[in-house]
Amino acid sequence: MRLGPALRALAREITLAPDKLIQPLFVVEGLHGREPVAGLAGVYRDSTATLAAQVEHDLAAGVDKFLLFGVPDTQRERGFDHGFTAGQIAALRERFGTAVWLAVDVCLCAHTTHGHCGVLDDEARHVDNGATVAELAAAAAAYAEAGADCVAPSDMMDGRVAAIRAALDGSGHEAVAIMSYAAKFHSGFYGPFRAAAGAAPRGTGALADRATYQIDPARPRDALLSALRDEAEGADILMVKPGLPCLDVLHDLAARIPRPWAVYQTSGEQAALELLAREGLADGARLQLETWTAFQRAGAQAIISYAARRARSLLGRTAKD
Ligand code: PBG
Ligand code: ZN
Repeated sequence: MRLGPALRALAREITLAPDKLIQPLFVVEGLHGREPVAGLAGVYRDSTATLAAQVEHDLAAGVDKFLLFGVPDTQRERGFDHGFTAGQIAALRERFGTAVWLAVDVCLCAHTTHGHCGVLDDEARHVDNGATVAELAAAAAAYAEAGADCVAPSDMMDGRVAAIRAALDGSGHEAVAIMSYAAKFHSGFYGPFRAAAGAAPRGTGALADRATYQIDPARPRDALLSALRDEAEGADILMVKPGLPCLDVLHDLAARIPRPWAVYQTSGEQAALELLAREGLADGARLQLETWTAFQRAGAQAIISYAARRARSLLGRTAKD
């Protein structure tokens, strides 16, 4: 049954296609030119001047779905200004119209002086859930107003999906979707991203890392609780992150909750594949396609991948395998 490519193709249960992929984009305020992101081939910190050309290039390569991360040049404790990212959304919308599907990450870690995903309590001992949720809802409304198709909260505060839904509906943006980082684990696979977004947590004690708000990888039932909560609060698309270390969680959750599921192949995961290939220890294209297949096999309908923009050439290259 596996002797020839025809039978293998007919028997295959999973077909990869560029239209299942979402490409992350970084846009950095005050940057001149653009800078490569360490560890991720073909991924850049774009400036306002280079972002549109990148998107144009991606559209030509068959990628039309994006997840935008805006990195402002001013960091604060609270009272954030979402104008920079909103301006970038508006510019992309004006230039590309409905030719792009644009999701925008909603979080505060690129905005805060300390790099945490929320505002701190008055004694600066921990993240203040309620105050953070109010800021996130304001950000989501600003991004929707600027033309985002989807907002994607990655902070992991309790109740943020309900607050964002209410803010969107209350401002005439009922049709803007919420893609919730529902099962986002406290992971070591976020390294290149944090450098790219200037979003590494800086602090001591409870503020040394994100363990107080991201899910403990040894507590998968918290992922279920978080996903059930986000679904009940109105999330349209749910996400598991990181990908490969959490295939079991993706499989369980996708079977339990009949919503579209996305998986985030994170920066550290991607960099690991590329390191193997660079060391001559693996065929990078094969690793990419094998991991994407595993995500679909586990139950993902959508895949966020730094290599999305290479999908068409990767798929073309191995069509005869
Ligand atoms: C921050 C955020 C992170 C990612 C997306 N949004 C990192 C983190 O939680 O520290 C990870 C993306 C990646 O590693 O590719 N809210
Ligand atoms: Zn964050």
